[in-house]
Parts: sequence; C-alpha cells; structure tokens
Amino acid sequence: MKRIITFWIFLISIFVNNAVFSAGPTGKIENIDFSFEGVFGTYDKNQLQRGLQVFTEVCAGCHGLKHVAYRNLGDPGGPELPPEQVKAYAAQFDIYDPELDDERSAIPSDYFGDSMVENAPNLSLMAKARVKGPEYITTLLRSYNEEEKEQAGSVLYGNKLYPGGWIAMAQPLWGDDVEYMDGTEASLEQQSEDVAAFLMWAAEPKLNVRKETGFRAVLLLMLLSVLLYFTNKKLWAPYKNKKA
Ligand code: HEC
Repeated sequence: MKRIITFWIFLISIFVNNAVFSAGPTGKIENIDFSFEGVFGTYDKNQLQRGLQVFTEVCAGCHGLKHVAYRNLGDPGGPELPPEQVKAYAAQFDIYDPELDDERSAIPSDYFGDSMVENAPNLSLMAKARVKGPEYITTLLRSYNEEEKEQAGSVLYGNKLYPGGWIAMAQPLWGDDVEYMDGTEASLEQQSEDVAAFLMWAAEPKLNVRKETGFRAVLLLMLLSVLLYFTNKKLWAPYKNKKA
C-alpha cells in the first residue's frame, strides 16, 4: 500500500510541475514562478504583450521567429492583440514576396522572418529546445558579468550560465531597454522574464488549450471511475451476503 501511495505522489508531482526532476546545464538556472507552470497555469496576456515588445525592440535585431505568423499574435491564449493591432504590427515589416519578385509590407498571414544575424539561432522553438526553457532563457539574460574576450576573430561575452562561461551574444538587456505601455517597470528582471514567457508561448502557443482539454479529460475519468465503482457494487450486491 505504501509503495502504491509513493508511486502516486511521484506521478502527481511530475504532473503538477514537470520541471522538478530535471537538471540544468552548467550554471544554476533560477527558479521562476511563471504563470503558465503547473496544471492550472495559463499564459498571462499582459506579460506576453510586454514580452513581444522586448522581442520586437531588442531581440528581433538579430533573432528570427520564423515559425510564428503575425496573425498568431491575435489568437486566444496568446498576446491576444486586437485585429487592427495585428495588422499594424505586421505592416511595420517589409518582406520579400516571390510572386511579386519584390518587397511589400507584411500582412497578418505572413510569418516573422528568419534571423538577421549569422549564428543567432531562430528563437521559435528555443523555449522547448533547452531544459527548463523559459527559466533557462530568463537566467541566461541575467547572467552576464561584463567581461569580454576575443577568440578566433570574434568577440565572446562572459556569461555565468552559458556552457563554458562565454557566449557569442553580447548582453542584450540591461534594464530600461524598452518603455512598457502598461506602466510596468522595465527592469532587467522584468524584461528577461517577460521575453522568456513570450518565447514559451511562441514555442507552445496551444498550452492554455491543451491544459484545459487535459483537465477536462481527468475530470471525465474521475467521474467514470466513480460510476464504475457504484455499478460494480450494485452488480455484485445480490451475491455479497449469500452464504456459499
Ligand atoms: C546583437 C545580436 C543579438 C541580439 C540583439 C540578441 N541575441 Fe540572442 N544570440 C545572438 C547570437 C550570435 C547567439 C549565439 C550565441 C552562441 O552561439 O554563442 C545568440 C543566442 C541566443 C540564445 C541561445 C542560447 C543557447 O543556449 O544556445 C538565446 C536563448 C537568445 N540568444 C535569446 C535572446 C533574447 C531573448 C534576446 C533579446 C532580449 C536576444 N537573444 C538578443 C545574438 C543576439
């Protein structure tokens, strides 16, 4: 019996927080309470909007997000920009249209572009590609130590978290890199968390929906178990007190 209980506690703890047993790369990944963690966790729309702003104004200079379409910014469970804002957001960018063989301004059905800088990875799936992705990204952005060195003709920047301690990305966030429209203070702490949440949404846009569906399935299974229990009891009731 004890073993069964331990087993269930183990299973439930994985379910509630699937990050409990995973280990990070070299430095220590900070533990951050993101709104989307746990069984009931969902994205915080305002945080995703702030993260989009940080991504647009800071990261997009180098990094692409090529698996995400502008229209996704309006999807339920995401940043949920109203349609006219999605249009306006897309229209800021010029993209090459092979049909026109020319550039035109982007429309909602177009995708964010690929990375602008060689070696800067596309960030669409980054939050899923690293262990504890969102926390890893947040911590990475906070782990610079302002050291620099040159190696094989390129500059490397000291970062406590990055494997080896040196990364080819210059420190992108310092604090007050953007001005938030909702009045939130744009500290390094806040911005790094917001952009990581945004990248998590980019990598897993259907998380809210998936959790809702999962939760409904669990409820249904519980209901079914209860029904089965009583059906079983009722079926065997006539035989229960009969002497053999
Ligand atoms: C000046 C260009 C530049 C900017 C701006 C920039 N990055 Fe990077 N980023 C890079 C490059 C180059 C790499 C590859 C680093 C390496 O391989 O050492 C990288 C790598 C990364 C990685 C991958 C780290 C890993 O584990 O491999 C993440 C995550 C990342 N950047 C996030 C961001 C975020 C978030 C922002 C905006 C806040 C940002 N970057 C802004 C150039 C940039």
